[in-house]
Parts: sequence; C-alpha cells; structure tokens
Amino acid sequence: MGVSFETVKRHIGTIVHLDHRDDIVSPDVVAQCNALLEKRTVLVFPRVNLTDEEQLAFTDAMGGRINLTSTAVSDAPAQEDVYKITLDPKINSQPEYVYGTFFWHMDGITVDTPPPRATLLSCRKASATGGQTEFASTYAAWEELPAAEQEVLKDLRAVHSVRSSLRPIQDAIPDDVRERVLSIGLVKEHPLVWRRASGRASFVIGSSADHIVGQNVMEGRALITRLNEWAGQPDFSYRHYWHDGDFVVWDNCGALHRVIPYTADSGRMMHRTTIAGTESVT
Ligand code: OGA
Ligand code: MN
Repeated sequence: MGVSFETVKRHIGTIVHLDHRDDIVSPDVVAQCNALLEKRTVLVFPRVNLTDEEQLAFTDAMGGRINLTSTAVSDAPAQEDVYKITLDPKINSQPEYVYGTFFWHMDGITVDTPPPRATLLSCRKASATGGQTEFASTYAAWEELPAAEQEVLKDLRAVHSVRSSLRPIQDAIPDDVRERVLSIGLVKEHPLVWRRASGRASFVIGSSADHIVGQNVMEGRALITRLNEWAGQPDFSYRHYWHDGDFVVWDNCGALHRVIPYTADSGRMMHRTTIAGTESVT
C-alpha cells in the first residue's frame, strides 16, 4: 500500500496520491487523512472515480455520514445520503440553494446540530466553463490577523440564517416560492471566533452571517463582508479545477467555500456526502 501527500500552498491544500485507489478506505490512509484534514483544510484525490458506495464507505470511515437536512436538491428522497449537486432542471427543480453556493459559505451552519466536520465532493461531470470550487482557510484568516484587530473581534457574535445566505439572489427568486425558500433552517447566533478543542481558533463567517449582535446592522454587515474577503485572499485560499472523477474533502469547520459560477446547461454534476460534526460552535 502506498500513499504520499503533496502540499499545494502554505496555508491550505494537500494532494493525496494513492498507488491503488482501493487504498482510500484502508485504516492507515483514513487515519492519515483525518490527521491532515484539520491541518491542511482541503485534501484532493485526483481522478479516483469513486462510486457512491466507495464515497460513503470513506465518509463513514473518516467519521460517520450525516444526512444534511438542508438538501440542495429538494426532490431527493430524504433517506439518500449522497446528494446530487446540479443545476440541471430535469434533476433539480429548486435551484436556489445551489445558486447560493456561488457565495462564500460554510455548510450546515443554520441547523440544530454541530456544523458538519467535513464535506466530500466527487466530480461526476465537470463544467466546461466555470464550476471550479474555491476554499478559504478561516484558521489562516484568524491567525494571520494583526493582534490589534483580533482584540476588537474576539468576543463578537453574529446571527446566521439561510435568508442571509441567499440575500445576493433574493430578488431573483420567483415570487411564488421566495418566502418558502428563504425561511428554511434556523436563525442561529454563533461566536464570530470559534475557539476549538485543539487550541486553535477560526472564524465562523460566510454568507449566512447576517449581522453582528449589538452592532448597527449596516456596520456589522460591512465587517462580515470585509472578513469574507480577507479569508478569501489568494494566500489563504485554494481553487480546485475539477476533472471528472476528482474527489475533494474539506474541513467545513475551518474553511469557507464557493463555486465559480457555471450554467444550468453545463451538465455539471457533483455527488456530495457529509461527515457529522463533533464540536459545537462555542
Ligand atoms: C455544496 C457546495 C460546491 C460545489 O454542495 O454545499 O458548496 O463545488 N458545493 O458544487
Ligand atoms: Mn457548500
């Protein structure tokens, strides 16, 4: 069995090279990937062509799947643990949540369970144009901030909602479904800076962050936008150019992610699984 790891950028990204693709579920590879996930934020397995069964087996071996209730595809049966992320109108009749992935976000931040520890995506069909996924380290965003700015931000809290996540596209949602689409999920208050059991700290930001508790909404929103931009700077982020069969796993608690826009007729199709969170945001 052989596995080797190639660092992409100082703050983020590791490519995992497997001698044999079946080794992905070997206990040794799983243990090394688990250890690297928090340190490196994004693990890339080029062209491993996992089946859904293999992806679920890896998901379970890494920590255990959950069925994220806010499914991106509204008509997928609730019991399905593999979500098909696509804008194809024949498969996804309610595309608003997928359009929401075009903006920096964390998954599962407005549900009543700890945020998912990791999200896993297999590329079944890449888009010919656009459709690359970007990841931004919220650990680096916190750790590289000047101490004086950390001091100002360290005890702030933010209110998160799906309504906020979809604000950039809100007026483009058809009138007859808008309110239903915007009102899923909970309105949740989280600390802006999440102090982790590991001793590190990361920002809880992204499009779901609506405003800062106790601050004028306009000022808070400007601060959140600025922090999202800070986290997304090239030094802290990695953009993945997908090939069919690529598999990418990321630390959802230590990263923002977003997709470079692609179109509904691109045929882009991603299969997503989710690993349950183990730490509540505190
Ligand atoms: C998601 C998501 C990214 C992508 O499904 O939550 O953000 O590249 N997807 O499709
Ligand atoms: Mn997402």
